[in-house]
Order: sequence, then structure tokens, then C-alpha cells
Amino acid sequence: MMCLWANAGMVILISMSFTAVFAASADEWTKRSIYQIVTDRFALGNGSSPSCDTSEKKYCGGNWQGIISKLDYIQSMGFDAIWISPVVENIDGAMSGDKAYHGYWTQNINSLNANFGLADDLISLSSALHDRGMYLMVDIVVNHQPQTFDYSLLQPFGGADCFHSECFISDYNNQTNVEQCWLGYSGLPLLDLDTENSTTVNIMYNWIKNLVSDYGIDGLRVDTVKHVRKDFWPEFASSAGVYTVGEVLTGEVGYAAPYTEGLDSILDYPTYFAVQKAFINGVSGDMATIAEIFTEAQKQYNHGAFYVGSFVENHDNPRIQSTVSDQSIVKNVITWPFINDGIPILYYGQEQGYQGGNDPANREALWLSGFDENKPLLAQIKNLNAARKQAISYNPSFLNNPVTFIPQASASSTLAISKPPLLALLTNGGSSSTESWSIPSSAGLYNANETLVDVLTCDTVITGSDGSLSVTTSQGLPKVLMPAKSLSATGSLCSTEAERSSGANRIDHQ
Ligand SMILES: *[C@@H]1O[C@H](CO)[C@@H](O)[C@H](O)[C@H]1NC(C)=O
Ligand SMILES: *[C@@H]1O[C@H](CO)[C@@H](O)[C@H](O)[C@H]1NC(C)=O
Ligand SMILES: *[C@@H]1O[C@H](CO)[C@@H](O)[C@H](O)[C@H]1NC(C)=O
Ligand SMILES: *[C@@H]1O[C@H](CO)[C@@H](O)[C@H](O)[C@H]1NC(C)=O
Repeated sequence: MMCLWANAGMVILISMSFTAVFAASADEWTKRSIYQIVTDRFALGNGSSPSCDTSEKKYCGGNWQGIISKLDYIQSMGFDAIWISPVVENIDGAMSGDKAYHGYWTQNINSLNANFGLADDLISLSSALHDRGMYLMVDIVVNHQPQTFDYSLLQPFGGADCFHSECFISDYNNQTNVEQCWLGYSGLPLLDLDTENSTTVNIMYNWIKNLVSDYGIDGLRVDTVKHVRKDFWPEFASSAGVYTVGEVLTGEVGYAAPYTEGLDSILDYPTYFAVQKAFINGVSGDMATIAEIFTEAQKQYNHGAFYVGSFVENHDNPRIQSTVSDQSIVKNVITWPFINDGIPILYYGQEQGYQGGNDPANREALWLSGFDENKPLLAQIKNLNAARKQAISYNPSFLNNPVTFIPQASASSTLAISKPPLLALLTNGGSSSTESWSIPSSAGLYNANETLVDVLTCDTVITGSDGSLSVTTSQGLPKVLMPAKSLSATGSLCSTEAERSSGANRIDHQ
């Protein structure tokens, strides 16, 4: 069968009516905090709450209008960007009994998934975000398309010769095999796009440029990046013209690092795995590994770890609470993305305490939670976002100052992470443990007798007369300390504990 090249002119014409288009760079994204959404599972535009059995792997009804209707919910937690699952038209039928509700089974890159709405709905979402000063990140797949009996359904790549010839990936140590063989298996074959073919390559470069401009997209999450040759990506990223963050599934910093050259950055999977090992295994896990891996990432990634997407849950991995019930540990894990160099990403449902295990169980409908804003984790996330925002505005070099780890006596169960004005104290000891951290005066962080506020509780601690700090936690809870002087007396974050700096306020306070 011939490879049927579609005319590039088929891209849908769209009236450009954005109130603002950010087309944001990596530097602009570093100030942001991202809420990740599986569109089908987040909210329905008409506000209904149908049942949704994740094990059935079918569409549950979420759509772009639904996201628009819940932007207050997202923004009130302090997020100023969302990442949504892929938007392009997917195969309509089932593959191996599953439907393409997740959006990763592209049929036509030049049209949209009607289950989520029409072009106008996606443009409305983009505009609604921009009106609030928020960014839109869209998930995209370049590497593969599902195999169908009728190749002509796949557009614009309508023939077998648009794809690498059939071979399933069999050797992850052979990069050619990883790049040119197929993902999936015989029951669920994913055709591997021939990204060695310059005609195909140019179609993809043009496509991404148009997608970004047609829908006012501010950033891209790129799927399965390690399955496409590395030198495909630089021109793809420049065609996109916005921040690109790629999925490179690996625990090895050295393997991941080269991909931070072609794209702006990657989702920080190596540190994700270290965090899983440290916390999810509880006291048997080693916290020191986090420092070790993250320090390597800071060294080896292009732009250090500043441009990475930092996360502890996503749609491909079991949720934290599918294996950990101790809420103190959960609260420690959830803190990590907000206090390191990377851009924090929260997977929808974490704030509600969702507990789904492996895919598909981890893709629960959020509407079934009633969007309850009184959940303890939601409150913590709100504080973490507020702390990061306050840190960015207080310290002009916060975003360029790499995290340092201050060595602790209990190195396997505690971590002290410094990124002034933040000092995060984490432990994997759990709710029945008592843990201590010491920050010596030689760390040079604090003055004598300085008041620090744990912004997760608004409790205060005071440094010693030499500027050193000793802190103990009795229930294994995390602490995020900020000097009282770095807080705002008029802000939302522990304003009562903020140090009053003006004379009038000082008198007030005494
Ligand atoms: C709401 O929208 C869903 C999905 O489009 C639809 O199935 C359902 O019938 C609608 N419910 C109401 C009450 O309009
Ligand atoms: C690596 O994989 C490619 C593609 O499957 C194959 O042609 C090649 O022989 C493999 N190389 C080695 C050394 O196994
Ligand atoms: C690219 O694919 C097209 C369509 O199959 C084919 O005509 C062309 O020869 C290919 N180019 C290369 C360099 O392989
Ligand atoms: C810190 O407090 C101690 C004990 O109250 C006091 O002796 C010392 O002078 C104070 N140091 C400074 C620099 O204020």
C-alpha cells in the first residue's frame, strides 16, 4: 500500500480570537506550577457526575468545557498552568478491548478528539486560561500510532510504508531497537512512525507549529521521547516555539541527560524513581538516594534541573496511596516537587487522596470526589504553591539557585533541602516516628535568634545564638521552613507569623 500524504492545507481554519497568547519559553515556565489532567476523567461541561469504572477502559465523559468549568478549583490551589491529555482525533474502535479515552492512540493528527469537544471548545479553554494568566500545556505523541486494519484511517500517514517495519522492541540496551522497533505487543501493536524519512519529519515539524498556533498552546509534554532518534527533536522543539518537556522513561540520569539538549527538558523520572524507593518502601528506603540522584541531575542535565517537570504521580504509574497508607509519608512525598529546582507537577486527584494503582486504576473520575476543597492534602498543596510563589517573589535568584542538601546524621531517614528562603525537612519515618534535623551555623543560612515559620502549620522555631538550627518532628510530618522576614504580613501564608518590618507594625506586634 502507498503511503498517502495528506495535503498540509487540510488543517482546520480557526478564527484567532485569543485575548492573550503566551507561547511561553522554558524560563517563563519555571515560575509556574502545573496541574496534570486526563481530560476524560476530570469534569463534564454540563456538570453531571456519571459513574466511571476505570477497569472498563472506556470514555467516561470528561471534556474541555468541563475543565473550563473547574478552573476556579485548580487556580484556588495555586496552580497557574494545566497539562491536558492529547487532543487529537483517536481511533474510535477498541484496541485489545480498550477505548482511546486517554488520547494516546492517534488516528488523525490534523483533527481533534470529538469526545472532548470541538475546536471552539479547545480554543475557549485556551482563552479562559489566558484570561486568568494561566498556561496551557498539551500532551502530544510523535513516535507511534495504533495499528488498524484500514491504514487509510491513519492521517496523514496512511500507509504501512510510513512506519518502520514490524518488530517489537526486544532489547532496551540497543538504542536502534528502541527507536525503530515498535511499542506494544501483538494484541496491541503501535506502529512506529518512520522518523528517519525526511518527508515524514517535515510533516511533523509543520504539524506542531500549526497545532501550537491554532490553539494558543503555551507548552508541550512530549510522549515516548526516547523512542525517536535524538536529532529529530531540536528542530521539532524550535518549530513548536514553546517550552517542551519530554517523557524519557529511565531511572538513569546519564541516559536521560542528552534529551535535555534536544528538548527544553524532561520529566524528571530518575529522581521520581529515587523518591519512590526512599518513601514508598518506608523506613527501609534510603532518603540519601534522592540527594545523590538529584545532584547528578543538576550536574548532567542541560540547564541543571531548573527546566525539568518534577512529579511524584502521573497517569502511567500507581498512585502513592495505592501502596502507602501512612498519611505522614504521603505528605512528605507530596512536598518534594514543590521544593526542588524543577517545575512542580501535580497529577489530578492527588489533592483528593486518590488511591488508584497501576493504569487503568490510577485514572479515576475526579467528579466522583465532588471537588471537595476541604481535604487535608489539598490544604497542604495550597500552602506549598503559596510558599513557592512567595519564595520566588522574595528572593530574585530563587529560580536560578540550585538546591543543596545539608548532610544529616540520620541520612537514610531524613533529608534537609535548602533553596533559600525555603528549607524543606523531609522524612520517611512515618507517623509513629520522631525525627530530628540539624543545620549547623556553618551552612550560613540564618542569623542568630531568627524566627522561622513552618508554612505547612504556621508553627515557629527559633535559631540558636550562633544561627544554627535544631528541629524535631514527632509524627513524621514534613516541614517547610521560611524565615518570618520572608513572609508577607498581608499574604495568605502564615501572615500572622510574618515579621513586621515597618516601625508601626513592629510596635503593633510587641
Ligand atoms: C452531560 O454530558 C454527557 C456527556 O456529553 C451526556 O452523556 C449526558 O447525557 C449529559 N447530561 C445531562 C444531564 O445533560
Ligand atoms: C539493534 O537493533 C537493530 C534493530 O532491531 C538491529 O537491526 C541490530 O542488529 C541490533 N544490534 C545489535 C548489536 O544487536
Ligand atoms: C519517505 O517515504 C515516502 C513514502 O513512503 C517514500 O516515497 C520516500 O522514498 C521515503 N524517503 C526516504 C528517504 O526513505
Ligand atoms: C540571642 O539570644 C541569646 C539568648 O537570649 C542572647 O544571649 C544573645 O545575645 C542573642 N543574640 C543576638 C545576636 O541577638
